[in-house]
Amino acid sequence: MANKRSGFSSRIGFVLAAAGSAVGLGNLWRFPYLAAQYGGGIFLLVYLILAVTFGFTLMITEIAIGRKTGLSAVGAYKQLDKRFGFLGALSSIVPIIIFPYYSVIGGWVIKYLFEFASGHMSDVSQDSYFTGFVGETFQPLFWFFLFIAVTAVIVLLGVEKGIEKASKFMMPVLAVLSLVLAVYAVTLPGAWDGVLYYITPDFSRFSANTLLAAMGQLFYSMSLAMGIMITYGSYMQKESDLEKSVTQIEIFDTGIAFIAGLMIIPAVFSFSSGNLEENLQTGPSLMFVTLPKVFETMGNSPLIGSVTGSLFFLLVFFAALTSSISLMETVVSILRDKFGWGRKLTCIIVAVGALLAGSLSSLGFGVLKDVQPLGMSFLDFFDFISNSVLMPIVALLTSIFIGWVTKTGIIVDEVKISSRFRREKLFNVVLRYVAPVFIIAILLSSVFSAFGWFGYEL
Ligand code: PHE
Repeated sequence: MANKRSGFSSRIGFVLAAAGSAVGLGNLWRFPYLAAQYGGGIFLLVYLILAVTFGFTLMITEIAIGRKTGLSAVGAYKQLDKRFGFLGALSSIVPIIIFPYYSVIGGWVIKYLFEFASGHMSDVSQDSYFTGFVGETFQPLFWFFLFIAVTAVIVLLGVEKGIEKASKFMMPVLAVLSLVLAVYAVTLPGAWDGVLYYITPDFSRFSANTLLAAMGQLFYSMSLAMGIMITYGSYMQKESDLEKSVTQIEIFDTGIAFIAGLMIIPAVFSFSSGNLEENLQTGPSLMFVTLPKVFETMGNSPLIGSVTGSLFFLLVFFAALTSSISLMETVVSILRDKFGWGRKLTCIIVAVGALLAGSLSSLGFGVLKDVQPLGMSFLDFFDFISNSVLMPIVALLTSIFIGWVTKTGIIVDEVKISSRFRREKLFNVVLRYVAPVFIIAILLSSVFSAFGWFGYEL
């Protein structure tokens, strides 16, 4: 290898950076609306059970692969078994696809932060504001470019000075902000019913779809099956306790998702006097259309809404930024491992590539809106290919590869370098038996639902 590998300076730096990757738009925006849509408490319960079994197993597997080989996904899989090099390549495609469109949404977030902070809340909360904005050509491109530029600067500074430092600052701020906003939201008039809906499991609403939706969300939220945790694992010190780190990342990720639900569901409940379903629409409209309206109606002075809205979008911005950093770093690290390029050159190449690819997603709501791959906008199309098709395939092949080809011993040994492996049995059973069956189910369901086959709708 041409490059000397840099790394995280401390275990806590690693945990915060990995949690930074995991905590993102998925937690703050996707989790709350899925929870609302799938019956509140029951979704929460299913998600928690999956997180401590399935999420734990896949995450520790990926981080251990990274730390064991000291390589990013392509090299790592190849080193474990030549025949599985393709799996590394496959998983590397995922961040390459996600990074550009994720940054487009990141750009929207900066734009909203800017508008709220500069006192334009009443414009932003108009019904057609969001569609008008994303339909323009230059505005969304401008904010998207800005988002990529900020990400690129941090990645350019390197693992320790850029990523670790940025995460150590942003993650604690993010945790505090979300707590403050959640406390505020649950004390709004009428919010308590929303809290109850959110935390009380209604078992009659449980179905296979609840399980599948929770599982899909888990992959996405924990940044699994896209080589990110392998790359971050490769920067981890050998003496850092792996199992404890994974537990902490999971608590952080799930905790923020839970708090995001507490922040958003009761607020929307209070705003819509109980008419939850209608106001918790899926898609970007929740964050960019409904929430600004909720902020606007808060308190008896516009200042309250403006401040709450600004804090909220600042929180979302930090969450999106630490995730996009991990996406970009993963792509950069794959290219550097492969071609031995310097960090600077690689960052420039990746940033330019992302600008080009992301422009397609950005313009897909405006001048390119009639070009609809598979009947979707470019952004939805890239999201579908990566999350619903590629990620489950990578996760499936990884569980088969480690569970049955190399055997789980290689992960167990790696974990034991730094500590006891307390959940070794659970890990073995889940990786070898439970994971493959479940993932096949997700894969089939996501493909069926996308094409509307058999009248199937998730
Ligand atoms: N885990 C991130 C989230 O919850 C999403 C993400 C996906 C981040 C892919 C990086 C890469 O939003």
